[in-house]
Amino acid sequence: MSAQPVSGTATLPPLPHWERTPDDLPAAVRQVKAALRARIAASGRTVEDVFAVIGRRIQADVDEITAARQRGEAIWPVIEYGDIEAGTVPESARALLRHRGCLVVRGHFDRDQALGWDRGIVDYVESNGFFESYRGPGDDFFGSVGSRPEIYPIYWSPAQMQARQSDRMARVQAFLNSQWTYESGGVRWFDPDRDSLYPDRIRRRPPGADSAGLGSHLDPGTLDLWMTEENQKAFRHLFNGTIEQYDPWDAAWRTTGPQYPGTTMCSAFRTFQGWTALSDMAHDQGVLHTVPIPGAMAYLMLRPLLPDVPDDDMCGVTVSQVFPASRKWHSLLLQALTGIPDVTAGDSVWWHCDMIHSVAPVTGQQGWGNVMYIPAAPWCPRNERYAASVRDVFLTGSSPDDFPAEHYERSWTNRFQPYQLNQTGRRGLGLS
Ligand SMILES: [Fe+2]
Repeated sequence: MSAQPVSGTATLPPLPHWERTPDDLPAAVRQVKAALRARIAASGRTVEDVFAVIGRRIQADVDEITAARQRGEAIWPVIEYGDIEAGTVPESARALLRHRGCLVVRGHFDRDQALGWDRGIVDYVESNGFFESYRGPGDDFFGSVGSRPEIYPIYWSPAQMQARQSDRMARVQAFLNSQWTYESGGVRWFDPDRDSLYPDRIRRRPPGADSAGLGSHLDPGTLDLWMTEENQKAFRHLFNGTIEQYDPWDAAWRTTGPQYPGTTMCSAFRTFQGWTALSDMAHDQGVLHTVPIPGAMAYLMLRPLLPDVPDDDMCGVTVSQVFPASRKWHSLLLQALTGIPDVTAGDSVWWHCDMIHSVAPVTGQQGWGNVMYIPAAPWCPRNERYAASVRDVFLTGSSPDDFPAEHYERSWTNRFQPYQLNQTGRRGLGLS
């Protein structure tokens, strides 16, 4: 290919990097943007050229998705749990999963099991007087209106832990992890068959609810995506003249480095974010949407380098706020925003960790909207570090370090106990 650089990347100018949040953010943004542009130029290409390569790919994906939608075709891939367990998922289904970056697993759990977990969570919080003691949202990101929460800052119910350490969850996580390239250059970046049991919350949204939803955003990081040494390596192909080799499924350098702290951070590396449905949900009742294009991350990372963006602006990305996907800078991507199909309690929903997602607004919701957030967070140096803190908060029933320090469950004696851990649970917490 004629556009390949003549010089090796070793000769390209180095990038400044900040392993902790820079003191002067605008200055650091200006500095890193200038250095990224200089590095692309030294590779023999221009920012405009590199961005155009990605722009054409994304445009083709958006066109394909909008055409399929007009034909009435389903956009979200669907795989039956039974095929994952039996190892009979056809390669065509795996290819579609990697193409769209998202998935519904049908029948991941029996519907009765999921509904039982939902009732179990209600019993758990009511038996501990949660609604009487609830002090309001501990963060402003998922803040809800009214006296009862939609997001419950609850982490250690028997239901959640049973699901996290279940064989069925482990099988699906291993299947999803194996869509990534997790070994390269003699390094095994993560273990696809061992999950780190990342503890997250639950959502229970009752019938009749009005919800403003959640704006389009992504979760893999903020300014650290451009500014830490590990991330600069992870996204190396965007900035060293080899844009054609960028692969959103390459785990190299994704599983080791730091993340800038903030109220919306996730310390873990997740191959996929996910949740398990604890109620039936119709597709038009305020459900999850994604931009089902995993490679869109390249667009999001390169867009701030174009000359129409002010030098101290990363298209609105800053620390301690989620990475916004906006009409102003990312309107092409948002054309592909697509909601999940109808799901049944026990189905699970997954999306690539870099993908834009949102939750649609709803008024007068029909039926419940209940989910248990359980991602795929395979064992790797980053997740091993976080697992040490998870062990501690599990033993004391505290809120995990990534979340507001609300600690509702410390005195709740019917929370999941260490003796109830199975082998998957112990391995996930680094206890064996
Ligand atoms: Fe998110």
